[in-house]
Amino acid sequence: MNRPTRRTVLGAALSAAATVGLPRTTATAAATVAAADAAAPAAALSVSSWQQRWAPSAAADGLAAFETVEDDRADSHPAGHPHIRAEGDTYRWTMHTVDRDSATDRQRQEVTGMRSPAGGAFLEWKSGQTWRTTYAMYIPSVLKATTSFTHIMQIKQPGNGTSPIVVQSLRRVGGAQTIELQLPISDVLVGRTSLDPLHDRWVDVDFRITVGDGSSGSVRWILRSAGATVVDIERTGVDTFLADRVRPKWGIYRSLGDTSGSLQDCYLLTREMRGYQLVPGPSGVFRADEARVSQGTVDTDHTGHSGAGFVNLENTPGSYAEWTVRAAAASTASLELRYANGTAAGRPMDIAVNGTRIAAGRTFAPTANWDTWATAALPVSLKAGVNTVRFTSTTADGGPNLDRITVR
Ligand code: GCU
Repeated sequence: MNRPTRRTVLGAALSAAATVGLPRTTATAAATVAAADAAAPAAALSVSSWQQRWAPSAAADGLAAFETVEDDRADSHPAGHPHIRAEGDTYRWTMHTVDRDSATDRQRQEVTGMRSPAGGAFLEWKSGQTWRTTYAMYIPSVLKATTSFTHIMQIKQPGNGTSPIVVQSLRRVGGAQTIELQLPISDVLVGRTSLDPLHDRWVDVDFRITVGDGSSGSVRWILRSAGATVVDIERTGVDTFLADRVRPKWGIYRSLGDTSGSLQDCYLLTREMRGYQLVPGPSGVFRADEARVSQGTVDTDHTGHSGAGFVNLENTPGSYAEWTVRAAAASTASLELRYANGTAAGRPMDIAVNGTRIAAGRTFAPTANWDTWATAALPVSLKAGVNTVRFTSTTADGGPNLDRITVR
């Protein structure tokens, strides 16, 4: 395949920047800002949180939810059409062994991008921005890991001829089937886990990307099965940008070069596809499925939670949920936790911000039942940049169930 080298693409971007001229900060301007900061009252709170930008209904929106649809683009197997379709509330990609992409050593059934509203404008993921996509995926056991590439999600610069920037792939490693996330342009393996326990069930994917050149990008890859976290890996300081913009692709894109005999007729399903952008605002809501959970699950078996689920911490001391709160400047804020405690006894938790305990064994009182939620608030100090806010169970009862935090 003919791929322009990364150097060429980057070189073009750099010379474009040189032509328009880069902004300069003078020492005088910096000194003026510092003096103003010292005299001014605390700045208004600015925290970044996920704003939903895309939430297609497969049933109502169908394939109009996507920017493009590459359904057998080489027209290699008309009898198999459509290879990509909405089926009730799921999207389905079907791959037959006879299907061929325009490069005949591989197969491709993929969609790209996010249109919101369906059929309307597509969302552009630009350098410097942070985006997130969540969805449930079903990988049947007939969709196997291979010795050559089998990508089931990619982040790419639009257009042909550039390397993928991120790939989520099914790869055979030493004979074992795995699912992995790689950054091909910098040859970084972000993470890899066994595929066997994830076959033939719905698995929740949460993928986040800060789009950035050089070392200014980052990715986080989370897989959950039955509410339990299987993988939660973040890589910062990586290259996630070539030129123009990036966009996600979903479907099956695989090489015929597999030597393990794993290529068969297969399919992939997704549902509940969502797109979010990290946006600053005067307050932020951080939901259960955004938390880093240690010894606990994200459950849905009680009503009244505000997002995709709630955190159910294990009934053991040390189980915790931690959220990441990005603040534009050092500031004070109110931290509100929405929780449920369906028992008759209060449930204590330690609360720590950036590793420093700000409340020890704070008790969360009973809320009548597990479907009834209450809010407790306490003041917090945030530093500029990334803050962690952690709620840790301190007794063998574990913490209450946690729906979300609000910082305002
Ligand atoms: C019940 C309830 C859970 C809760 C648990 C607990 O099992 O269904 O949601 O987390 O009790 O005691 O913590």
